[in-house]
Amino acid sequence: EKKISIAIDGPAAAGKSTVAKIVAEKLTYIYVDTGAMYRALTYKALITQTMLSDEAALAKLLDNTKIELRTAENGQRVFLDGNDVTSEIRNNQVTGSVSEVAAHKSVREDMVRRQQIMALNGGVVMDGRDIGTHVLPNAEVKVFLIASVNERAERRHQENCKKGFPSDLAKLKEEIAQRDRWDSERAVSPLRKADDAVEIDTTCLSIQQVAEKIMSLVTERI
Ligand code: C5P
Repeated sequence: EKKISIAIDGPAAAGKSTVAKIVAEKLTYIYVDTGAMYRALTYKALITQTMLSDEAALAKLLDNTKIELRTAENGQRVFLDGNDVTSEIRNNQVTGSVSEVAAHKSVREDMVRRQQIMALNGGVVMDGRDIGTHVLPNAEVKVFLIASVNERAERRHQENCKKGFPSDLAKLKEEIAQRDRWDSERAVSPLRKADDAVEIDTTCLSIQQVAEKIMSLVTERI
């Protein structure tokens, strides 16, 4: 059976990682969370007090940085220079800073190269903002997930409450809308649907329904 590449793009909190993980598991493919890579660099920039506006400094920092996505029993773990930073990269400071870091051209070029290497042999489900447009333009299946800002904020809120994290719905809405703006308006590889991507509005769909839709697109291609 042919091992294909699956690109899943869309705005913040549209459910990309949740469905990407399900699809990867069903196919026994590798799941690559590219947002986690930008988050890991952002975390390192914050702890090393690198200015987030300093493109050259960030590019140099990334050049000396090892980012690994490893699958463990407790799910995907993110390692920064050998240290597990899986939970740290989800904190509010990183979430509020990552779009600025990800807007730099030289940072993106390095990240895209790393991501393309991970996908060399196919058998990957990769989620992000520019996978179908730049990282894997030849992916056999491209999906663009969307959902209303309200729905996405609600989902994040539920998730936070379940985990026992403090959560403010109004703030989440503002944060998600802000990140949408940053990611869609930046000059380099802005968030947009690839011409050949299939758009799925998940506002009224369950996670399982979205995963099934993607699986049926995959079945057509393998
Ligand atoms: O997917 P996640 O919300 O973790 O991504 C965090 C941020 O990383 C996004 O808001 C975006 O600024 C950036 N990103 C990107 N390109 C990707 C993945 C993420 O610019 N392929």
